[in-house]
Amino acid sequence: MEYDFLVIGSGPGGYVAAIRAAQLGLSTAVVEKNERFGGTCLNIGCIPSKALLDSSELYARLRASGEAGGQDLETHGIVVGKLDLNLKTMMARKQKVVQRLTSGVGQLFKGNGVKTFEGVGRLVATGKVEVSSSDGKRQTLKAKNIILATGSVPTTLPIFPIGKDGFLTSTEALSLKRVPARMVVIGAGAIGLELGSVWARLGAEVTVIELLDQILPGMDSEISRRARSILAKQGLEIVTGVRVLGYEKASKSATGKGQAARSGGVILTAEDKDGNKQRLPADAVLVAVGRRPYTEGLGLAELGVKIQEGSGRVVVDEQYQTSLAGVYAIGDLIPGPMLAHKAEEEGIAVAEILAGMPGEVNYDTIPSVVYTWPEVASVGKSEEDLKQEGVAYNKGSFPFRANGRALAMASEDGLVKILADRSSDRVLGVHIVGPWASDLIAEAVSVMEFGGSAEDIARTVHAHPTLPEALREAALAVDGRAIHVLGRKKD
Ligand code: NAI
Repeated sequence: MEYDFLVIGSGPGGYVAAIRAAQLGLSTAVVEKNERFGGTCLNIGCIPSKALLDSSELYARLRASGEAGGQDLETHGIVVGKLDLNLKTMMARKQKVVQRLTSGVGQLFKGNGVKTFEGVGRLVATGKVEVSSSDGKRQTLKAKNIILATGSVPTTLPIFPIGKDGFLTSTEALSLKRVPARMVVIGAGAIGLELGSVWARLGAEVTVIELLDQILPGMDSEISRRARSILAKQGLEIVTGVRVLGYEKASKSATGKGQAARSGGVILTAEDKDGNKQRLPADAVLVAVGRRPYTEGLGLAELGVKIQEGSGRVVVDEQYQTSLAGVYAIGDLIPGPMLAHKAEEEGIAVAEILAGMPGEVNYDTIPSVVYTWPEVASVGKSEEDLKQEGVAYNKGSFPFRANGRALAMASEDGLVKILADRSSDRVLGVHIVGPWASDLIAEAVSVMEFGGSAEDIARTVHAHPTLPEALREAALAVDGRAIHVLGRKKD
């Protein structure tokens, strides 16, 4: 048979595309090489990392003494007896969450009539995909439209051998069998900060090394600076503007920062901009310097599918069609942020386009979240973007320490910042570092999606006492009239 819609890859881009296509009556099939559906996000990315972030946060709160910024349980009057960590159980719980969600995708496929094929898919001709399954069998599937959704893999640094001498990517860092005494994280992006936080909370001494001058490059720099100082207070050592040069294996007596590295560990060498060298002992090194599109073995070069030089991203037009007619690509494979929700939206859009509907993604309102605690979330333009584009804006900020609910939660670090167009008051960007920023950003995204103004947020009734009130106060502050902080009222 010839499918209407054949997807290679079942991550958030691919599986959502397949479900939407099936909903729209297209005969749909998915090819997946892994045992479980769900791709990186569900198996070795977003979901398992959030499971470990939640578990490790509970542990850290129980473990913390007064120095943890008032977030420990003792400040709540809760006194905990002997505390212990069973890493095996923590990992098993994480795996259970993964299992539930990935098997859920399988059930959704079944329920929607999506046919699935186990094996590696490869484009062999227009309209044809060869599937090689793990038992050595090969079959060729025919389809009117083929959707490439094979995602991305970690970028590695050639000088560091992943899988040897304690060098890890995010995949391995999600399944360590013991807590490393010292972990060095290379790269202060989302992965580095999230997984660095997990292992620091579980007891590792963590140093994060970042090549550029700020953590979370691309993020509004005020928010990034605030996040850095909060994370530093939690004990995460962060060094920026430093290049890693190489490593040597540590001898038992090797020292650094006054502490012996464990045998089997390494000493990393790094250098700052002034040429000052540093030696960092580590028994685990997480390389988190970005991800690259996963196109190996897909048959793209053979068929002349255009790929951007340098980035390796697949070139697509506005309808997600590659340079080869009938072949489409979505998610991490194509330009744009490598985020699960961006891939999902593209999956829905491409299914709708191929069903004859006007599928579209608003790339101006894609939120971005870093799930440290507190969380960091943003949508739209940063102050740096606006300055660079010469857009005049008003800015309103509100600190969580003036929000009743944040105080009640003992989680008062951080702020909400709203940037609004100076003449129209339209919201151009919202940036949050604070408790449950991941949830708070949703309101900002909605307002921006509707082309709303800061005044719209300011005049919207927000339940009291809640964290979203901080967003409203920041909207009031855009016009200098926040209620719960002192701010000069404009003329
Ligand atoms: P990233 O690109 O976000 O961050 C990598 C960091 O490494 C950058 O700050 C970069 O300047 C730095 N870097 C690059 N080379 C370096 C070197 N040689 N030495 C020191 N630092 C160096 O990449 P990351 O964190 O690996 O994440 C990969 C992708 O996955 C990103 O697109 C990210 O958005 C996505 N992701 C998103 C998450 C979320 O939304 N919460 C969670 C995890 C990943």
